[in-house]
Amino acid sequence: MLKSILITGANAGLGKEAARQLALQKGMEKIYLGCRNLDKAKAAKLELERSTGKSIFEIVLIDVADLNSVRAAVESLKEPIEGLIMNAGGTGGKRFYEKTKDGVTQIFAVNLLGHVVLTEALLKAEKLTKVTLYAGSEAARGVKEMGMKRPDLKSSSVDEFTSICNGIFFGNTKDATKPYGPIKYMAALWMSSIARQYPEIRFVTMSPGATTGTEGFNTLSPVKQYIMKGMMRVMLLLGKVHKLEVGAKRFVDGVQNESFKSGVFYASKSGLTGPIADQGTIFSDLNSEIFQDNANAAIHRFIK
Ligand SMILES: NC(=O)c1ccc[n+]([C@@H]2O[C@H](COP(=O)([O-])OP(=O)(O)OC[C@H]3O[C@@H](n4cnc5c(N)ncnc54)[C@H](OP(=O)(O)O)[C@@H]3O)[C@@H](O)[C@H]2O)c1
Repeated sequence: MLKSILITGANAGLGKEAARQLALQKGMEKIYLGCRNLDKAKAAKLELERSTGKSIFEIVLIDVADLNSVRAAVESLKEPIEGLIMNAGGTGGKRFYEKTKDGVTQIFAVNLLGHVVLTEALLKAEKLTKVTLYAGSEAARGVKEMGMKRPDLKSSSVDEFTSICNGIFFGNTKDATKPYGPIKYMAALWMSSIARQYPEIRFVTMSPGATTGTEGFNTLSPVKQYIMKGMMRVMLLLGKVHKLEVGAKRFVDGVQNESFKSGVFYASKSGLTGPIADQGTIFSDLNSEIFQDNANAAIHRFIK
């Protein structure tokens, strides 16, 4: 069982609930709450201390969309951590399509670029010793129930993946649900690629499944929010989505249970809830080492 873990985006939603569940596990000694807003982080820390009765939480200030902040966070860690949950993410805010100073879109920076730099900096500094879990999504292999198509790449070349990083792939779309799936797909490919480079660390991509009670849709356009939240309500009534505790437990299981294999992307076997399965059995492109390494190479074009 893990003794220490860092969770990004730990002040809300799945990250905070995963922190709560992990604090109650035997042997857990330290949980670093990786948050970009100090006030929100302090409020979450207090609430977690009250709800768990544990004083094992420490705030690490980190904005995953800002690579300087990511590198400073790694430096601020006094001791190595055994586990990492790369949870911060979602639809990238109201200006998700704008470029960061690194040349990627906000939505790409939040979901992927910052986490790549975080993981690699931790490994380089020998500050990550056992397992890292990426918050994937069924959107990476398409979600019929929510009208999200499976990513449709023509060549899966480094150039084509680069166009996902900088947003060119999506034209002028103002709909954040369009880039979201392909970015989560690239993340799963990157995780499989880096898993082969570091066989001593377990790299698990795990979707929480469609989870209610998070703030995930709050930065979409009002119309899109109305549609997505409405769909979630109907799907909850139909038993096609699940509650926060269930989604966060997938993350907890992913880091604690070694039967979840390194380099594999786990998500719902069908639909968005229920049993999970290796997504490579559903979408075979995920198994291509060439695509995995091309995704990895494209991401590194934006890291100086
Ligand atoms: N909920 C679902 O149904 C679902 C399904 C599949 C995958 N996921 C994935 O699960 C993860 C968590 O989702 P959620 O639904 O729990 O979302 P959420 O309730 O919106 O929480 C997102 C968390 O990420 C933080 N965050 C956002 N941008 C950040 C940045 N630049 N730097 C640091 N922290 C940042 C937020 O902090 P602030 O409070 O400061 O904004 C918040 O703590 C995401 O990666 C999402 O894509 C969710």
